[in-house]
Amino acid sequence: MHVNSKIDRVSILRKALTEGSDLKYKRLSAQLEAMIREGHFAQGEKLPTHRRLADQLSVTAGTVSKAYSELHLNGLVNSHVGSGTYVGPIEHGKTFSNFENYEDFPRENFDLSRSSALTLKDNPVFRKTLEQMTLRQDVITQMSQYGPEQGYVEHRKAGANWISHQSFKASYDQVICTNGAQHALFCILLALLKRGDALLSESFTYPGLISACRSLGINIIGLAMDDEGILPSALDAACKKNKVSALYCMPTMQNPTTAVMSEARRVAIAEICLKHNILILEDEAHAVLEKERPPPISFYAPERSIIISSLSKAVAAGIRAGFIHAPSTLVQRISRAVRSTCWMPTPIAMSVACHLIETNAIKSLLDLQISEISRRKSLVSPMFQHKNVKTHKHSPYYWIEVPHGWRASDIAEEAKQKNCLVSTAEAFAVDRHRTAPYLRASVSNPTVSEQGIVSGFKILLDVLNNPAT
Ligand SMILES: Cc1ncc(COP(=O)(O)O)c(C=O)c1O
Repeated sequence: MHVNSKIDRVSILRKALTEGSDLKYKRLSAQLEAMIREGHFAQGEKLPTHRRLADQLSVTAGTVSKAYSELHLNGLVNSHVGSGTYVGPIEHGKTFSNFENYEDFPRENFDLSRSSALTLKDNPVFRKTLEQMTLRQDVITQMSQYGPEQGYVEHRKAGANWISHQSFKASYDQVICTNGAQHALFCILLALLKRGDALLSESFTYPGLISACRSLGINIIGLAMDDEGILPSALDAACKKNKVSALYCMPTMQNPTTAVMSEARRVAIAEICLKHNILILEDEAHAVLEKERPPPISFYAPERSIIISSLSKAVAAGIRAGFIHAPSTLVQRISRAVRSTCWMPTPIAMSVACHLIETNAIKSLLDLQISEISRRKSLVSPMFQHKNVKTHKHSPYYWIEVPHGWRASDIAEEAKQKNCLVSTAEAFAVDRHRTAPYLRASVSNPTVSEQGIVSGFKILLDVLNNPAT
């Protein structure tokens, strides 16, 4: 790469620190990232020490250290303890650890770090649905043309049906179809929040939220949690302290901790959000695996709440079908974000989802997922009886505390050496500098057999019992 060494890097960095409203370390890391990408630093070049750069820029060494960590997390630099921080190798397209596609690295044998619905290969209900699609002229017509960005009425009706449960009845006028829950989340953030806005979430959250917020320049603030998820007192305090635009949360089967909010907790969260006039983004991607779940928070604050749902955990992640249920006043703005990201939800994906929902075939597929998860967990749970582990009976995840004195990354690395992949708490942490002694391990990966899952958990247990010294 051509290195432009003539330009005074320190002056450029100083100038960047005087502009914008982001936190100082974010402004510094953004400018350093731009300069690395533009060739102001050579691959393999050592960056100045924290102290040296801090003195040159009149900031604290902590600010430089945080900025370097951001670069590291984004795959732009390598850090070697005691030796320093070096530029490269740049991993193009890498945005955030634990939010990567399957193709991003070779598959390991025992991958417990993923979660999507178990495979539908050879499933007769699913095969029949796909066969029927080939005979439907209306589907073929929809595929031949552009359609409404909010989604066709019949697809929205199916979405309303999917989102409705217990006493909560979704209205199809308020449904927007999307290419999955991640797309839904991105469109909502794009439409309703702007760069620099503050969004609250659980302190450990879905990595796709962190990635989307980073892309859009939205600041996430993590809230303290207990066994039910977000603490109302933490929410209230954060709303008083900051100018907050929205709250994102997963009230049922929180990812990664598997927490479920009681009805009383949902009411309390709704009341605080109404009091502070903030939007509630409620992610039900996993909640669909719990049929007996309490009503969504939206039930208690319908005019301020948006539900996000999808078929990824219940049927198949590769269909890419998702739904948003939003207050009528926001539907158009969010639909416009769908248009600007992909013109319209993909008709074939929505037709498959719609057919499964309207014929009720989805019920048998959902039941299959639930019973498969239970069966796999019945093989794994006895192994973890004496460990500090959290799970929910329908969740594919275990949230596992690592032995005292060990970092989650030590255990994860050792398990990886033995061909078993798990996720560390760091990947879910809103405060990216925060480490916590937890791992997330999943029984639900369509590319790993039941035997492979059991073997993976045995490896993990072995490492947890006897970490290498
Ligand atoms: C909480 C949560 N929301 C959304 C998603 C994304 O789902 P989809 O595959 O529908 O985009 C995931 C995927 O893991 C998730 O865990």
